[in-house]
Amino acid sequence: MIKKIACIGAGYVGGPTMSVIAQKNPHIQVTVVDMNQARIAAWNDPDLANLPIYEPGLTDVVAEARGRNLFFSTEVDQAIHEADMIFISVNTPTKTYGKGKGQAADLKYIELCARQIAAVASTDKIVVEKSTLPVRTAQALKSILDNTGSGVNFHILSNPEFLAEGTAISDLHHPDRVLIGGEDDRAIQALVDIYASWVPEDRILTTNLWSSELSKLVANAFLAQRVSSINSISELCEATGANVDEVARAVGKDSRIGSKFLKASVGFGGSCFQKDILNLVYIARSYNLHEVADYWEQVILLNDHQKTRFAERIIRTMYNTVNGKHIAFLGWAFKKDTNDSRESAAIYVADHLLEEEAQIVVYDPKVPAEQIYRDLDALGTRSPEDNRRLLQVVESPSLALQDAHAVAVLTEWDEFRTYDWALVKQQMKRPAFVFDGRKLLNRKDLEVLGFQYYAIGE
Ligand code: NAD
Ligand code: UGA
Repeated sequence: MIKKIACIGAGYVGGPTMSVIAQKNPHIQVTVVDMNQARIAAWNDPDLANLPIYEPGLTDVVAEARGRNLFFSTEVDQAIHEADMIFISVNTPTKTYGKGKGQAADLKYIELCARQIAAVASTDKIVVEKSTLPVRTAQALKSILDNTGSGVNFHILSNPEFLAEGTAISDLHHPDRVLIGGEDDRAIQALVDIYASWVPEDRILTTNLWSSELSKLVANAFLAQRVSSINSISELCEATGANVDEVARAVGKDSRIGSKFLKASVGFGGSCFQKDILNLVYIARSYNLHEVADYWEQVILLNDHQKTRFAERIIRTMYNTVNGKHIAFLGWAFKKDTNDSRESAAIYVADHLLEEEAQIVVYDPKVPAEQIYRDLDALGTRSPEDNRRLLQVVESPSLALQDAHAVAVLTEWDEFRTYDWALVKQQMKRPAFVFDGRKLLNRKDLEVLGFQYYAIGE
């Protein structure tokens, strides 16, 4: 029976996941630790509006459990020492150096966690991989733990997370499935019991370690592949007069295909789809499975093409020059209802337009200005000074839209639909262009108002 859980990593996964585990298991003490002091301070902020992550429903869960059996701390060693079960939920970004650069997952944070657990543990521990990892990582983890530990027993489980940002709490409360991979039946059962507090048992799948690790990569690859598939068709729709929403609806009605994840867009973003597919591609290549690797790589190539195509469409439509033109960006987050902008399509579309010396003014309801500049600076395309000269971030939509030559919708925030578009039209320069990368607005309404409206896949 597990009494104390530690989770290393208080990010988009560790924070919400552990909050729900604590909410549903009041008898278990859950401590989420992170080396990032500011992040932990934000998780402990008495004002719940200051939590480091914006997720609908999160504040209620934290309000219920924090201080009761949910704790956030920077005392990593102490939490490891006390816990019976330790989740590793640290970031696993794409490697930026050495072998596998640009494709393989960088496992340095995972390895650091394993070494720290081994160094501190003085009692048996169940170590749970919550981070998304290459297949067979558990083997490396076990080897580090067993070789650097002090003789205590470690059981490794794989328990990948399937929540999507923006719907994390409802995904955690009502998961399609919970996946637990492992070798030791008692360790597996200990984790099953935790989830069984609220998840129906037929939704808790148990597999061997390698199936569990690989299934996570495959699930993300399949989801992203659907987006790239429909995005590839969006270009064909533009060339032929078909409408991609109509095609998606007709195709998705087939119950064998299903209607979800067929929304054409400016391209998928987020911290995981690209990273996980690149990782899958790298793994396939490392086993000399080149056709398999090429097949999945195409999902990424098409996604890059979609972002470029959108930027080029803006330029072409605006008489082949955006130099000095004011383009209002509505949205910067990689999807609505999150403050996360990692790998957001907006970053790449902006970068392309800035190369053409456009003047971009961004409004996003949740992503702060510092983050937007960090995203752009990280590309290294131009100096930070030039990024700030060419791109401005504002706190209200009207400041972005005033005197704009064009509006580009990059995130599908609901509030963008509710704007008084007649008023927006009056504030903008003529002809007033709208480039809808999310197919969010209504073509008829905007055309009646006199906008030149372009949407993906129409
Ligand atoms: P994140 O960057 O938001 O959070 C990771 C945290 O781990 C950071 O706060 C970092 O400071 C901390 N950390 C790293 N090394 C540490 C160490 N040695 N000791 C203490 N703290 C340490 O990342 P995330 O979005 O939560 O993703 C975590 C993992 O979950 C990744 O493998 C990701 O692929 C996977 N995942 C993410 C999502 C998602 O929606 N973001 C969904 C499913 C799975
Ligand atoms: C995705 C998966 O949905 C989760 O199951 C998984 O746990 C997570 O990745 C992860 O491993 O990190 P997330 O990236 O948070 O979740 O969000 P999604 O809803 O999957 O959206 C990803 C991107 O695809 C967004 O940019 C979104 O706008 C785009 N998208 C999604 C489309 O363009 N069209 C669609 O039909 C669906």
